[in-house]
Order: sequence, then structure tokens, then C-alpha cells
Amino acid sequence: MTVKINTTDEEHSALFMAAQEVMLRAYAPYSRFKVGAALLSSDGRIFSGCNIENASFGAGTCAERAALAHGVSQGVLSYRAIAVAGSSGAPTPCGICRQALFEVGGRGLLVIWGESPKSLHIAPLGELLPHAFGPEDLEG
Ligand code: THU
Repeated sequence: MTVKINTTDEEHSALFMAAQEVMLRAYAPYSRFKVGAALLSSDGRIFSGCNIENASFGAGTCAERAALAHGVSQGVLSYRAIAVAGSSGAPTPCGICRQALFEVGGRGLLVIWGESPKSLHIAPLGELLPHAFGPEDLEG
């Protein structure tokens, strides 16, 4: 798949560092796996979020959807990229989060992940969630 990338390496690193920063505020006493996510809106703003676990495990929220709730709560519904950072390894968004992100970024949303701002992976959401079901499928 070819994608036109309108963001620079510096922007990818900056977005990833925003994800690392918010990761420090994760509430993850059960898994001890902290995650931070930073969404870049189409108008250039960053909205971040961390995972928030719960004693009732199913009530926990991933960092990506926490970031999304942050942005949507500010009235922002269109995004260009998301960076994800974990306390170990290089997590990518889980399946539910890929679906949630498809709603606001479509297949062109750039997903950025890695272990350090100097060594990042980048792929469009369309590669991580091929043949996605989305808003257009509900039309007519
Ligand atoms: N988690 C995220 O927040 N995002 C991901 O991309 C993968 C998993 C969280 C959910 C849970 O709090 C912890 O990581 C372990 O699965």
C-alpha cells in the first residue's frame, strides 16, 4: 500500500514523546503495563491519554481510547496520526482501539510506535485494520 505522508520525522518523534510523557500517568496497578497515546488532530493539536485500569478488569480503558475521549470531548473529530508508547516493548493499538480510531482517522491515519523517538515504526491504519467496517458502511 502506498500512502502520502504529510508529517515529518520531527513531528513523529514529538508526537511519540508526548505519548511517552502521558504514559507516566497511566493507572495500571493490575497489569503494570503502562501505555500512553498522543493523537494529532487535522488542525495540528495534540490530545493525549493513558490506560486506566479498574478492579473490575473489564472496566479498564486503553490509552488510545482515553486520548480519543480527550480530543472528542474538545469537539475534535478528525485526526492525522497517533503515537503509542509502552512501559516495555513497542505496543501497537489493540483491535478495539484500531476500530475506534478508524472512525476518526480512516485508513490514512498514521500509526506510530516504537521503543524510542529515534527508532519508530509507522504504518497507515488501513494496514493494521484491513477491510475495516466504518461509517460509510452504514450509509444507504
Ligand atoms: N493497553 C493499552 O492501553 N493500549 C494498547 O495498545 C495495548 C494495551 C493497555 C490495556 C491494559 O491496561 C494494559 O495495557 C495491559 O493490556
